[in-house]
Amino acid sequence: MSGRDAAAFYTRYARLYDRLATDAPFVTGLRERVVEALDPDRGDVVVEMGCGTGANLPYLRERVGRGGTVIGLDVSGGVLGRARERIERAGWGNVHVARADATRPPLRAPTDALDGSGRNVSDIDGRNVSDIDGRNVSDVDAVLATFLTGMLADPEGAVDEWCRLVADGDPSDRGEAAAVSGGRSGGGRICVAGLARSTEPIGRLLNPAFAAAVRLAAPPGGGDGLPRARRERSGAESAVARLDQRAVAAHGRVHERCRDASTTRLLGGFARITAGSVDGS
Ligand SMILES: C[S@@+](CC[C@H](N)C(=O)[O-])C[C@H]1O[C@@H](n2cnc3c(N)ncnc32)[C@H](O)[C@@H]1O
Repeated sequence: MSGRDAAAFYTRYARLYDRLATDAPFVTGLRERVVEALDPDRGDVVVEMGCGTGANLPYLRERVGRGGTVIGLDVSGGVLGRARERIERAGWGNVHVARADATRPPLRAPTDALDGSGRNVSDIDGRNVSDIDGRNVSDVDAVLATFLTGMLADPEGAVDEWCRLVADGDPSDRGEAAAVSGGRSGGGRICVAGLARSTEPIGRLLNPAFAAAVRLAAPPGGGDGLPRARRERSGAESAVARLDQRAVAAHGRVHERCRDASTTRLLGGFARITAGSVDGS
């Protein structure tokens, strides 16, 4: 699916998605587990890729505290509108969202910025996102992506890009703990979480129902890169197969890139959370 397809789909269903993302019975516990796995420090700069309506933002803000910074990036203006309302309601001065492609986040280490200086890097709407909050946000300590990698044509490439973002951060700026300890070596944390078919005995019985739900909920254009005729032939089986394939690719890449990655399976094996530490470059 192209970023444009995703933007249009999620803008259209932003209100409905927000209800599901916030109030569905299993999601609160899942979001807590995800942020626990990411394990950011107080004072950290955390970037959430494909942040949607901002359902993870309260959990991230709670962990980084007032001295940290949370930045959500998403291609869909509709969901970002909801996220901004959430931020305003809560009165968080250190939580920001910007419209940007998560596979090419407009945040770079100071020596490698899009404009060569680490400053004045703009999002799709022309807003400066490199110096939000008076801090150089290219010093990213942790990256989170929930329910996103299944929508990306190249999940491994995206994970590589996120690891690079974390690895390239300023080694002296890793949370309040860094100020106390004199700074950890660069790098930080990455966590991806999403859904795929279950390989657990009970979950497997429910895989056909899961496949049907994936097909119903999938935004149009999921067969990106495929010729139109083949895309039209693809039904529930191919939609869920693609989701599985992308989950294996994204979670596998986190394992390859992190020295200590671990995966937790929840909800009968349908939800996977993989997190690990990225070394500084
Ligand atoms: C299923 S929603 C998940 C939202 C949020 N992470 C959550 O847990 O509720 C996927 C989000 O990813 C966004 N998205 C899809 N492709 C993207 C891309 N290439 N860059 C940034 N956002 C993207 C969509 O607009 C949508 O808001």
